[in-house]
Amino acid sequence: MINKGIILAGGMGTRMSPLTKAVNKQLLPLYDKPLIYYPLSILMLAGIKDILIIVNQGQLYQFRKLLPEKNNLGLKIQYKEQKFPGGLPEAFLIGEKFIGKENIALILGDNFFYGQSLTKILKKNIKLKSGAKIFLHPVKNPHLYGVATIDKRNKVTKLVEKPRKSRSNLAVTGLYFFDNDAIRFSKTLRKSKRKELEIIDLLNKYKKKNKLKAELIGRGGTWLDTGNIQDFYTASNYIAAIENRQGLKIACLEEISLKNKWIVKDNIIKAIKFYGNCEYSKYLKSII
Ligand code: DAU
Repeated sequence: MINKGIILAGGMGTRMSPLTKAVNKQLLPLYDKPLIYYPLSILMLAGIKDILIIVNQGQLYQFRKLLPEKNNLGLKIQYKEQKFPGGLPEAFLIGEKFIGKENIALILGDNFFYGQSLTKILKKNIKLKSGAKIFLHPVKNPHLYGVATIDKRNKVTKLVEKPRKSRSNLAVTGLYFFDNDAIRFSKTLRKSKRKELEIIDLLNKYKKKNKLKAELIGRGGTWLDTGNIQDFYTASNYIAAIENRQGLKIACLEEISLKNKWIVKDNIIKAIKFYGNCEYSKYLKSII
């Protein structure tokens, strides 16, 4: 079982400069919410309340304003700073104390997932006892991502980070479930050519021990990139199209908490005060 989650919300956001010069990428608006709401909602949908958010050194106050430790979401939020973006597995070194002896979910602060099948997939895999689980999604441009090759039984046979050429079109998305060995294995990793600890190297350690499994997010689920400005706007438009058609919000954190019974009506009223007079608050009013 996994009860704890880490959101990795640092990084330079260089590909989106100058937007990211003064504001962290994960705080930029993806349509009507800050980007970080979306990966946070995924952890919450999986049933995770105990969350560590890793942010760049010096940017803590930006995040705290939005997602304070004392929040109306029924979440236990903690923060840690990353001095320099030294790679995704650093999450397990920085988060060692937070993780303790437990299993852990990691989600990248810039990943957007959506779809009916998703909650089912999350609930199923959150029961992980040992090993690691990755979530794959077909893409047209695999060279931009970690890419996995799998056999008929979904066993991972090959994993490569941003391969120039690949026969597989299955990208490794930014959601990972690990057992506690993630800490121990991360400590043995060496920096790659791009001077980072690589998540693919960590996953390959699990693969070598026959402990890496994959889950496919097929057509029933969507995984969108927010890597560059064009993709960011494409994702924004996608969210706008769905929300405006259905009148329902994607990644309304308070709504998820209420459904999970982590909060009560009174917390929503407090949240409305917190956000002030805005569309998001109007939506919150409508759900109570
Ligand atoms: O999005 C999925 C992809 O994420 C995977 O397919 C790749 O295997 C994985 O390496 C990663 O690739 P990216 O090149 O997209 O990672 P990027 O460096 O852009 O960082 C992703 C997020 O993690 C971003 O929100 C910033 C944050 N980050 C990144 C690093 C390297 C940190 O907070 N700290 C870091 O040290």
